[in-house]
Amino acid sequence: MIVQIQEVRKILKDTDKIVVLTGAGISAESGIPTFRSNNGLWEKFNLEELATPQGFYKNPRKVWQWYNERRKSILSAFPNKAHYKLAELESKKNFFYIITQNIDGLHQKAGSKKVIEFHGNIFREKCTKCSYKTYNEKIYEELPPICPKCNNLLRPDIVWFGENIPEDVYVQSYEIVEKAEVLLYIGTSAVVYPAAHFIEQSIYRGKIVIEINLEKTQYSDLVNFSLTGRASEIIESITKI
Ligand code: OAD
Repeated sequence: MIVQIQEVRKILKDTDKIVVLTGAGISAESGIPTFRSNNGLWEKFNLEELATPQGFYKNPRKVWQWYNERRKSILSAFPNKAHYKLAELESKKNFFYIITQNIDGLHQKAGSKKVIEFHGNIFREKCTKCSYKTYNEKIYEELPPICPKCNNLLRPDIVWFGENIPEDVYVQSYEIVEKAEVLLYIGTSAVVYPAAHFIEQSIYRGKIVIEINLEKTQYSDLVNFSLTGRASEIIESITKI
């Protein structure tokens, strides 16, 4: 592992075109629960009820209650060393993007500028009928909230299961992955698509692919480096000068 860390450190130092794909594991050390690992959200809560358009239209109040609670916990969370180290690395590179599946905004809070929120943001909401969209950190008391423009239901601006990634977000991400020389994916179980396709795309194109996770994923044996451990510790050691 020490040799691998040294090799990855050199690659990150020498390469100017890097894309990072992050998942819930990078925010776990900020106290935000992941979805699938031990005690993950999808073990305790029903995905179909809370993270699909069908679940939302069946019981919008229940869905909003859940997102209210998640808003509260995310509002009290701070970025951790992993987020900060990535922001620092971005400042040294010309081409450095983060594509995050997380909806918590912690990369931006840590100072990262080029962040693509692939699954949306928990503090953005949009109307289910008109084009109204806004950023709002409010914890609602009256649920479900209603569009101030057209009085229809508001919903979180998050990509739920069964929904497409907005086309502009998908195309921009795809092109960034095409241009990058290195893909570093961190704290993602790599089972949710299309985000996980970026890992396959990079492997097939012969790019340098680096995984950081507490455990192995379906791609661990196919990538150049699979670094097992906590994101904060590994990122610190691979970005040390
Ligand atoms: P998951 O919960 O599926 O995976 C989290 C991964 O992080 C697991 O593989 C853990 O082993 C790893 N992990 C946990 N703590 C870690 C740490 N401290 N350091 C390194 N790795 C750690 O989360 P995602 O892959 O992000 O979508 O899930 C993808 C999508 O599924 C989410 O964006 C969400 C979810 O349903 C939507 O809500 C639309």
